[in-house]
This record gives sequence, C-alpha cells and structure tokens, in this order.
Amino acid sequence: MKKLVFAGSVFIMMLVLGGCIYDWVVPPEVPEIPDDVGISFVNEILPIFTTGNNCTACHRTGGQMPDLTENNAFNSINSAKYINLTQPEESLIYKNPAPNSSTHRHKVYSGQQAALILAWIKQGAKNN
Ligand code: HEC
Repeated sequence: MKKLVFAGSVFIMMLVLGGCIYDWVVPPEVPEIPDDVGISFVNEILPIFTTGNNCTACHRTGGQMPDLTENNAFNSINSAKYINLTQPEESLIYKNPAPNSSTHRHKVYSGQQAALILAWIKQGAKNN
C-alpha cells in the first residue's frame, strides 16, 4: 500500500513539474538573417505586403495608412515614423505587426517575414 502511495505521489510530482517544464504555446521564432545576405525590397519585402492582399486588404491607397500597395509602399513607409535606422527594432513597420505584437491585432508577420523586414531595415531600408 505504501509503495502505491509513493508511486502515486511520484506520478503527481512528474505531472506538476512536467507542466512547468513544457511551454505548450510555442512563441513564433524570429530567425536571424546573416548580414551578408542582401535583402531586396522589391523581391522580398513588397511581396509580404501585397501577396494575397496580405496587408493591402486594408493598407491600400486611400485606406489605412501606411499605403502598402506595390507603387506606393516604399514612399509610404520611408519616414522616421515607420523606419528607425538607429534602432531598427523600434521601426513601426517592423514592431507594430511583429509576431508577438499585441498592438496590431489585424495581422502579424510570420517569424520569417519579421526577420526579413528587420534585416532589410538594418541594411539601410533601401529601395532596391
Ligand atoms: C484587416 C485589416 C488590416 C490588415 C490586413 C493589416 N492591417 Fe495594419 N492596420 C490596420 C488598422 C485598422 C490600423 C490602425 C491602427 C489599429 O487599429 O491597430 C493598422 C495599423 C498599422 C500600422 C501602424 C500605422 C500607424 O501609422 O500608426 C502598421 C505599420 C501596419 N498596420 C502594418 C501592417 C502590415 C505590415 C500588414 C500586413 C502584414 C498589415 N498592417 C495588415 C488594419 C490592417
């Protein structure tokens, strides 16, 4: 009987500790992109905004600012409000829809998309 109680409490302990060890809600990872991998605005950043109307469903010309449509996106975000070259992580275009953001509930970047945006800003946010 004592053995059974012991086994039972060990089992319960395992459940309790296990509950602390495992993080069931895995936060989206933001992968590092090496500095020497050049990011192109036209080829890699713009499609995040426009493919399947991902952002442009709302951020369209005459709609919600910033205008993220193909022809206007660069000019629309090319200001200190959206791009912070000294502190890239503070750029609104990165921070507001970042994967863990609670400020922009409409849509957030995937980890990969966020990494691309951040790397592009770190590389000078060029219209390339
Ligand atoms: C369903 C509509 C919708 C979609 C889709 C959407 N947004 Fe937004 N976004 C908004 C609205 C509305 C606001 C205004 C602030 C708020 O309500 O959060 C906003 C605000 C923002 C802001 C801050 C603007 C400012 O000047 O303060 C940024 C940056 C932004 N969105 C980027 C994006 C990006 C990038 C995407 C695509 C990944 C996206 N949004 C997709 C509706 C949307």
